[in-house]
Amino acid sequence: MKKRIVIVAGARPNFIKIAPLIHELKKYDDCFNVTLLHTGQHYDFQMSEVFFQNLNIPSPDIFLDIRSGSHAVQTARIMVAFEEAILKERPDLVVVVGDVNSTLACSIVASKSGVSIAHVEAGLRSFDRAMPEEINRIVTDSLSDYLFVNEESGLKNLEKENVNSDKIYFVGNIMIDTLLRNLPIIGRSEILDKLNLNSREYSVVTLHRPGNVDSSETLSEIFDVLSTISRKIKIIYPLHPRTMKTISDHGFFEKFKNIDGLVMIEPLGYIDFIKLVKDSRFVITDSGGIQEETTVLKIPCLTMRENTERPVTITKGTNYMVGRDRKKIIQLTDVILNNEAKEGTIPELWDGKTGERIVRVLVENL
Ligand code: UD1
Ligand code: UDP
Repeated sequence: MKKRIVIVAGARPNFIKIAPLIHELKKYDDCFNVTLLHTGQHYDFQMSEVFFQNLNIPSPDIFLDIRSGSHAVQTARIMVAFEEAILKERPDLVVVVGDVNSTLACSIVASKSGVSIAHVEAGLRSFDRAMPEEINRIVTDSLSDYLFVNEESGLKNLEKENVNSDKIYFVGNIMIDTLLRNLPIIGRSEILDKLNLNSREYSVVTLHRPGNVDSSETLSEIFDVLSTISRKIKIIYPLHPRTMKTISDHGFFEKFKNIDGLVMIEPLGYIDFIKLVKDSRFVITDSGGIQEETTVLKIPCLTMRENTERPVTITKGTNYMVGRDRKKIIQLTDVILNNEAKEGTIPELWDGKTGERIVRVLVENL
């Protein structure tokens, strides 16, 4: 009998993580019956549909259409709708990825419905419970039966939490599968021409963490730092809807738009975004995934956070932790512009074969 698998995705980074799994599982049609479920946590075309198109992900079999809400409201709505779906589907396994509210909500429901859970990107810890993602990671890992780990710190964290080693699989980084697989297409993106940019003559900024973008004072401080940097190098800033909301709510758009050398644009699809990053001089971000992608692309990355759950990007990669320390940020941009940034190396098993390794584990064990 074919095993039934439900793959869950809800937010932008999830789509990038499920693509390799969907493609790899297709090769095992005789073993698995796969259902793709989209919670609808992200719903704008540029936050959702564009990734399905860019990455050839089939349309979801089940769409929960949950949209935005407070943590409790969003998580609860997903749980209610997911319970109904899972009762109908009766899967043998639910696969969740990353650390968003959809990951947490579906893990809790699967666990209470007696369905096994596979967590892709298990074991990451920022040790900062002020971040909602840290709570999502801890709960999801504690409920999971297959913990697929992407960097060594994940192994150490799970060991410290006394997770049974039989459940832990060091498989590498699934986002990097997507990156490496799409490099030829990324090379053909016309985004540089569209934005009138020359390779290495601009930097890229993405920020969406509540701690950086929800308060108008903090966001203003950040734009002040960016305006200093933009005197030295052009900045392209694709705005996450969360950031756009604060900007609109406070009537900041005109003010920020007038900063010379700073270009705010809509969020980009995956192919255009990675092309933009790949040809940039450096990136400033608070994203999880972008810390990893810049490490593989060997582009210097300044992370505007106080901590990271992805320490290998600092110890081995091109990432620097800068918080909102203005002096440090300006000093490091000068280091980069003087071509003195660290070059970094590629972390173990970030080789484009993570999807294969995960599916092999499922073929052998499910
Ligand atoms: C979520 C994840 C975060 C992840 C990020 C990736 C949680 C707790 N947070 O944060 O870990 O890094 O996605 O991008 O799960 N909005 C839109 N259109 C959309 C989606 C969101 O306008 O398609 C706006 C809404 O105003 C919404 C706000 O963005 O209230 C936040 O969306 P939400 O999904 O709650 O959290 P993110 O900040 O996107
Ligand atoms: N990304 C994108 N377009 C953008 C910004 C980001 O395609 O305008 C991609 C990026 O390359 C990475 C993923 O979205 O693969 C990261 O998503 P995000 O930063 O929203 O979430 P996080 O990784 O912080 O959870």
